[in-house]
Amino acid sequence: MSTSSFKIAHKLLTGAGAIEQLAAELTRLDVDNPLIVTDAALVKSGTVALALEHLGERDYEIFDRVQPDPEIAIVEDCMQAYRDGGHDGLIGVGGGSSIDIAKCVGAYAGYHGALADLFGIDQVPRKGPPLIAIPTTAGTGSEVTNVAILSDKVAQLKKGIVSDYLLPDVALMSPQMTLTCPRSVTAASGVDALVHAIEAYLSLNASPITDALAIGAVKLIANALPKAYANPGHLQARDDMATASLMAGMAFGNAGVGAVHALAYPLGGRFHIGHGVSNSLLLPYVMQWNKLACVERMRDIAEAMGVNVTGLSLVDAADQAVAAMTRLCAAVEIPTGLRSFGIPEDAIPAMAAEAAGIERLMRNNPRQLSTADIEKIYRAAY
Ligand SMILES: [Fe+2]
Repeated sequence: MSTSSFKIAHKLLTGAGAIEQLAAELTRLDVDNPLIVTDAALVKSGTVALALEHLGERDYEIFDRVQPDPEIAIVEDCMQAYRDGGHDGLIGVGGGSSIDIAKCVGAYAGYHGALADLFGIDQVPRKGPPLIAIPTTAGTGSEVTNVAILSDKVAQLKKGIVSDYLLPDVALMSPQMTLTCPRSVTAASGVDALVHAIEAYLSLNASPITDALAIGAVKLIANALPKAYANPGHLQARDDMATASLMAGMAFGNAGVGAVHALAYPLGGRFHIGHGVSNSLLLPYVMQWNKLACVERMRDIAEAMGVNVTGLSLVDAADQAVAAMTRLCAAVEIPTGLRSFGIPEDAIPAMAAEAAGIERLMRNNPRQLSTADIEKIYRAAY
């Protein structure tokens, strides 16, 4: 008999007042001395200071050395800071990288072996210290998922820790925390959230619960992302994107993502192209390929993106979903073409072999893809 499970962060706090609840949440979780895991740019922009205002009367320390596309070694550095400072809780403030590092340190803090033993699925033996995730992008959805992704620079691979013990105690999504998000990051992370929603909706592992969240997220993003991009201070658009990112995170955190993410990983691992941009480079081409397997659901996506599908055949409506995604990516000025990123064409076979091997994602994809199929998709996106 099949079973469907649904897991998310223990508590979600959203809306413009959410950040003001930070001190109360730390008190509830019995945290007296948190380590704030973030990056130097967010400290400089004053975004971290917005969180510090609401820490209450307690000690804290800031670890601001998280880099985009974080390497495994940063977890060891951050763990050292956590132990040396005698901390009793973690606050991840940032994009997916800072939140992922906070999640990894939480897992590692409750373990006495080697970090490498925690890679893979369900290898974390127990829950770590309290963890509050405060995203500054909308977004990766990392604040509500049980996955953390790290970069193994030596093997040129992305490695993941997947465990329900990584789920944050609180996901605190306040639109003010995203106001300093640069325009290009707003675009790339917004498209990442859109890809999460679309891949969750098309996943073979989707459920009625994840479907409702995924379609709701697509509707919000189609409407709010152009506004947040055009006017970064648009608080309502930022709030809608924050909520949509959470919804998409809850959808893909349970239904999974598919071939867009699998094909995007080699672009990040080998060529250091950002995650959101990697996804958007591939999105229309993977969807075009997947269409054969899921025209009805592609029509639903077109409708959620605001396309009037009345009178269109199923196939035409599905094509409109691809067109609408392409238009949205163009509107927020995401670059196109693998070639424009300097990826050599002869790298495609190795990238295809790597993507085909990401079984964790490929098994969710609505259409089965051979390595030869994946090569064709990369060539179409070239
Ligand atoms: Fe993603």
